[in-house]
Amino acid sequence: MSAELRVDGERLWQRLQTLGEVGGLPGGGVCRLALTEEDRLGRDKVMSRMHELGLEVHQDAIGNVFGLRAGREAGAPVMTGSHIDTVRTGGVYDGNLGVLAGLEVVETLNRAGLQTRRPLCVAFFTNEEGARFAPDMMGSLVYVGGMTLEQALTTRGIDGESVADCLDRIGAAGQHPVGQPDVHAFVELHVEQGPVLERQGITIGAVEQVQGISWAEYRFTGRSNHAGTTPMDMRQDAGFAAMDTASYVRRRVSEAGGHQVGTVGRMSLTPDLVNVVPQTACMTVDLRNTDDRVLTQVEADVERHARELAKQEGLLFERHTLARFAPVDFDPGVVELVENTARRLGHSVRRMPSGAGHDAQMLARVCPTAMIFVPSVGGISHNIEEYTAMEDITAGANVLLQVLLELAQTP
Ligand code: GLV
Ligand code: MN
Ligand code: MN
Repeated sequence: MSAELRVDGERLWQRLQTLGEVGGLPGGGVCRLALTEEDRLGRDKVMSRMHELGLEVHQDAIGNVFGLRAGREAGAPVMTGSHIDTVRTGGVYDGNLGVLAGLEVVETLNRAGLQTRRPLCVAFFTNEEGARFAPDMMGSLVYVGGMTLEQALTTRGIDGESVADCLDRIGAAGQHPVGQPDVHAFVELHVEQGPVLERQGITIGAVEQVQGISWAEYRFTGRSNHAGTTPMDMRQDAGFAAMDTASYVRRRVSEAGGHQVGTVGRMSLTPDLVNVVPQTACMTVDLRNTDDRVLTQVEADVERHARELAKQEGLLFERHTLARFAPVDFDPGVVELVENTARRLGHSVRRMPSGAGHDAQMLARVCPTAMIFVPSVGGISHNIEEYTAMEDITAGANVLLQVLLELAQTP
């Protein structure tokens, strides 16, 4: 019976574009950093939509939002969702697709007059990106008990503001108890954000694993001095150490091969002037791998390189962990359900790991979880040019609909 139900792909597409206008950037794309005014506007829009669809909307103390649709029976809901915060130069699909596709599923069920056996829940989690406040996946991490609320609230962002102050300012801290509701199963639809599906001409990815993530901040402190008069052997150049470490990251990661990737995405120097040897250099190191052993080795090598360099140059070196998550395996049964459902609906499908971090990797700690990927044109994401074709979005949302139905209807 439920096999005939289909989402309205055009409606979903239109809603994605409309939400993308909140914090929209010239040339497309979105800047909706977590807990900013733009995030507030996006949250309001999505919560209004939840109310229009008749969902019971709850907000917890870290700003996670849950829209519940009652089932014929009480109990733990089947949950879907993702995030609506973005990086500074984000696309309209990253995260937003998973949330709006969940709401599209609800709308489809509402129109069909179908009440599932188990309740359904569409959620969006606070600060998935981690671009403003580390770690990433903060809201879902707090939800599953992997970080205390207190730790999260006192976290300061790249602009020095605390999560607590920002939650208060935008009115996103709710009364709903953290960690509720319990979940029967979780499935997240997301754009792949990499090139694999497009390259292979495959529509659906059944995601089996999320690779491990290591984020660290490195700070070198030396002495600023005159660029023209300070002999090279008398320098304590913090900038040199940071730049050499950044280039070591690239070399070491390439040598590791396999799934190992590494990025130095932020670097700042003080006093940041043409004729002054840098006094301080602060940089981030993002390392990821599906193989935690290799990841740990590369992490250690990069740190050793930085420490040795700091010693040679007479610098103080400090390392601060921003995020460290081991690789996560999804539930084999839910992965198989995604794969079989995609096939049944006539789509090409392959199993694959995720290169990006996702709220689903946190939910996997508390319930059977998997993800559905759809292709990203050119493998581009965290870029305003991020794009996924409407047909692929529709295909992914239909797989989501059928997977959720299967999970919600089976006793
Ligand atoms: C989150 O988007 C991440 O993987 O960095
Ligand atoms: Mn995302
Ligand atoms: Mn992202």
